[in-house]
Amino acid sequence: MIRYFTGGESHGKGLIAIIEGLPADLFIDPNVINSYLSKRQTGYGRGKRMSIEKDQVDILSGVRGGYTIGSPVTLYVENKDWQNWKDIMDTRHSVPKRVVTMPRPGHADLAGGIKYNHHDLRNVLERSSARETAVRTAVGAIAKLLLMNLSIELYNYVVSIGNVIINPDVLPSITLGNNYLKKLNKIAASDEYMMNMPDTVASKRAVRLIEDSKKKGNTLGGAFEIRATNVPVGLGSYSQWDRKLDGRLAGALMSIQAIKGVEIGDGVANSGRYGSEVHDEIFFSAKKGFYRKTNRAGGIEGGVTNGEEVIIRAYMKPISTLYTPLHSVDVLSKAPVHATVERSDICAVPAASVVGEAVTAIELTNAIMEKFGGDTIMELKRNYNSYISYITKY
Ligand SMILES: Cc1cc2nc3c(=O)[nH]c(=O)nc-3n(C[C@H](O)[C@H](O)[C@H](O)COP(=O)(O)O)c2cc1C
Repeated sequence: MIRYFTGGESHGKGLIAIIEGLPADLFIDPNVINSYLSKRQTGYGRGKRMSIEKDQVDILSGVRGGYTIGSPVTLYVENKDWQNWKDIMDTRHSVPKRVVTMPRPGHADLAGGIKYNHHDLRNVLERSSARETAVRTAVGAIAKLLLMNLSIELYNYVVSIGNVIINPDVLPSITLGNNYLKKLNKIAASDEYMMNMPDTVASKRAVRLIEDSKKKGNTLGGAFEIRATNVPVGLGSYSQWDRKLDGRLAGALMSIQAIKGVEIGDGVANSGRYGSEVHDEIFFSAKKGFYRKTNRAGGIEGGVTNGEEVIIRAYMKPISTLYTPLHSVDVLSKAPVHATVERSDICAVPAASVVGEAVTAIELTNAIMEKFGGDTIMELKRNYNSYISYITKY
C-alpha cells in the first residue's frame, strides 16, 4: 500500500506531500509532474490566483538520480502568492487586521470556525481551500508514472458545465479504441479545447455561459469523467466493505473539494432501467478469453475490477464564493451581512477533472501495490506479469 499526507495552507509558503510505500527504481520525471500541474491550472473561468501561480514540483526526498530509492518521497509546491500574504500568514506573529468573520455559505468557514473555536475564519479557509489539490495532483502524477510501467493509462475529460452537456455521441458507448484515446490526449493538450471537453460546440457554449455567469457575479459547476484502460481483472475485493474498489474510488473522488456525487459506469442512469438493460453479458472466445460487449458497470463488479475499462463520473457543485455574495451572519457581532469575497474561480471543472484523474491514479496504484507488492519496480513487474500469464490461462 502507498500512503500519503499533505500539508500547507492556501496562502502559506507552500504545499507539501509525503508519500510512503513507493517501490524503489521508479523513474520520476519532474517534467511529467509539472505538465500535469500546469494542466490543473487551465480552463476558462479560473480566478486571478492561477495567473500568479506557476506550479512546479520540488522533490525534497526519496529520489536520487531520477529514481525512487524506497524511502518516503517528499514533494513541495511553492505558493508564489505567499509573497503577498507574508504578514497575514506569518507563523510567529499574529496580525489582527483583515480578520475574516463573515462565513461563506457552501464553504467549511462556519462549521470549521465552530469546531475549532476560530473567530478569524481565515484559520479555516486557508486549509479547506482547493489549493491543496495542487500537491495531490503531484502525488497523482507519480502514481500515473508507476501505472504506466504496467501499461495502465488514465484519461479525464469534462462532460458538462452548468446546463451545457457534451453530445453523448462523441463518447464511444461500448469500448474505447486506442485512436480515440490518442484523440482525447490531443484534446487535453490543445488550447482550442480549453474546457477539456471532447466536443468543440459544447466547449464554446460553456465558455459563453461562464462569461455570462461572471457578469452576474455567479458561479458554475459541472461533471467530468475518468477512464482507466488496461486495468487487470481482480483489483479490490468483495470480501470486506473497506476493500471494495468502487467504494475506495468514490471516497477518493468525493474527498476533492466541491465534488458532491460520484458514479461508476452508468450508475445513475442504470437505477431507472430494467436489469436486462443494465448488466453486461459475459462471452468467451479462444482469442479474447472472457469478454463483454457492453460496459455499463464501468469495469467494476462486486468491488472488483472485471478487466473492462474503469469509468468514473464525478459531479462538482458550483463554486461557493460568489462575487454577488450570499446572505450570512458575522460570527463576532451576529449581525446579518453578506459573505466574505475571497478572490475566486467562476468555474473550476476542468481543473477538478485533472485532480479527479490524479486521485483515481493514486487509488489504483494502492490496489496494485496491495495485490502485487514489490519493493522494487522489477519485483512489482515480475509479480504482475506472472499474474497476467495466469489470468490468460484461467
Ligand atoms: C480545482 C478546484 C478549484 C476550486 N476553486 C475554488 C475557488 O476559487 N473558490 C471557491 O469558493 N471554491 C473553490 N473550490 C471549491 C471549494 O474548495 C469547496 O467547495 C469548499 O472547500 C467546500 O468544500 P465542499 O464543497 O467539498 O463541501 C474549488 C475546488 C476545486 C476542486
